[in-house]
Amino acid sequence: MQKIIITGGERLKGRVRISGSKNAALPIMAATLLTNGVTTLSNIPRLKDVTTMARVLRTLGAKVEFKEGRLKIDTTNVDRFLAPYNLVKTMRASFLVFGPLLAKLGRARVSLPGGCAIGSRPVDLHLRGFEELGAEVSMGGGYTQVTPVRSKTPEASASLVARTSNGVKRDGLLGAEIYLDFPSVGATENLMMAATLAKGKTTIENAAKEPEIVDLANFLNKMGAKIKGAGRDTIRIEGVKELKGTDYSIIPDRIEAGTYIIASAITRGDIILEGAKINHLESLVTKLHEAGIEIEDENGAIKVKAGRIKAVNVKTMPYPGFPTDMQAQFMALMSITPGISIITETIFENRFMHVSELLRMGADIKIEGSSAVVKGVKSLSEAPVMATDLRASAALILAGLIAKGKTEISRIYHLDRGYERIVEKLSNLGAKIERIKQ
Ligand code: EPZ
Repeated sequence: MQKIIITGGERLKGRVRISGSKNAALPIMAATLLTNGVTTLSNIPRLKDVTTMARVLRTLGAKVEFKEGRLKIDTTNVDRFLAPYNLVKTMRASFLVFGPLLAKLGRARVSLPGGCAIGSRPVDLHLRGFEELGAEVSMGGGYTQVTPVRSKTPEASASLVARTSNGVKRDGLLGAEIYLDFPSVGATENLMMAATLAKGKTTIENAAKEPEIVDLANFLNKMGAKIKGAGRDTIRIEGVKELKGTDYSIIPDRIEAGTYIIASAITRGDIILEGAKINHLESLVTKLHEAGIEIEDENGAIKVKAGRIKAVNVKTMPYPGFPTDMQAQFMALMSITPGISIITETIFENRFMHVSELLRMGADIKIEGSSAVVKGVKSLSEAPVMATDLRASAALILAGLIAKGKTEISRIYHLDRGYERIVEKLSNLGAKIERIKQ
């Protein structure tokens, strides 16, 4: 087991380069299944989740190799349509191969991802959308028509065969009008990918608007898809015959950027972020401004200047609202900010696991339903704490940067899923941080 040890109290300063976006890389890697060709992706972060997605693509018959920081994916020989449980359970984003496989091969058999630490995370919106596109969803080996269920058994697998409304099997999907009850990021991505090769026009209403959706649409259009409206409520896709391999560079990781912005603020530091896009962080920047933290865009670099910070309330919302993936990090900042901050999580049902760990460090936080009432304390102190999920791990790192003494964080494999070289990047900014093997 590996641990991270941080000796708190250092002001961070200097420049940090923000890596490519994990949540753009994963759907774009899955989208390469829509073509029989070679795609080269750059600005791809070296993360565990990217490695897992590469393994899923190889399981399906693709050739995937990292060379000089670029990811080369050859899907010429992809002919398998089963994404197995042992891979999907390690990373639920593997479920994003469903739409491309269904569109390209006419069927897909992907283990249902099951829940994870932050919530049950059903995929009913994905499955219902596939049915709208003319596919038949069946659980297990059969082809009986079932309504999408919130599966409790990740072992069950869903296989899809495209059928017309009168049940006649037909190659390919039919364009449809799809309405998402919730602007799900994954469902929007899966259905947008499936619709690129469907016959006719598809609209996705109440679509997710995250920058990663726009990046995926830009990538698909570069492959020859016809997508309009990505980043807005309604996405329109006109099906095409085929998509071609291409070269593409993905957007920077706005959540990694937000995490370093808070690292600068919480240590009263002076950090400059290189390679981040401030327009992807508007709600966070607005909230931090309200709390007394100035974020300036110095021709492409983001400079963080923290004055006297005051407590503010936050409610997570779908983009462009305050990102749920920044909730834990923001709570770490509020836990040592004078005043009371009410942090409400509206996206996931169990995304407060970092609270118990922050309490061990001396924070004063009470959970009331979907809100956490954070009363700022003078200081946090060292304690052995445990990472529970990706963004909770980041919150514990941020707390450790300012806690008195040495904070020891275990189960840091969560962290390696989404933060490229975080120990090295923070050390270069002056943090006293090390990774030890136990
Ligand atoms: C993506 O997850 C991100 N992951 C998450 O980032 C992020 O927190 C989330 O979007 C919200 O922004 C990737 O992009 C790989 P959703 P996703 O479908 O697609 C419910 C991180 O830390 N829902 O928008 O799974 C669901 O239960 C990760 O990088 C349904 O009910 O998120 C949740 O409550 C964590 N039925 C809400 O919608 C469905 O069919 C948002 O889920 C799908 C989702």
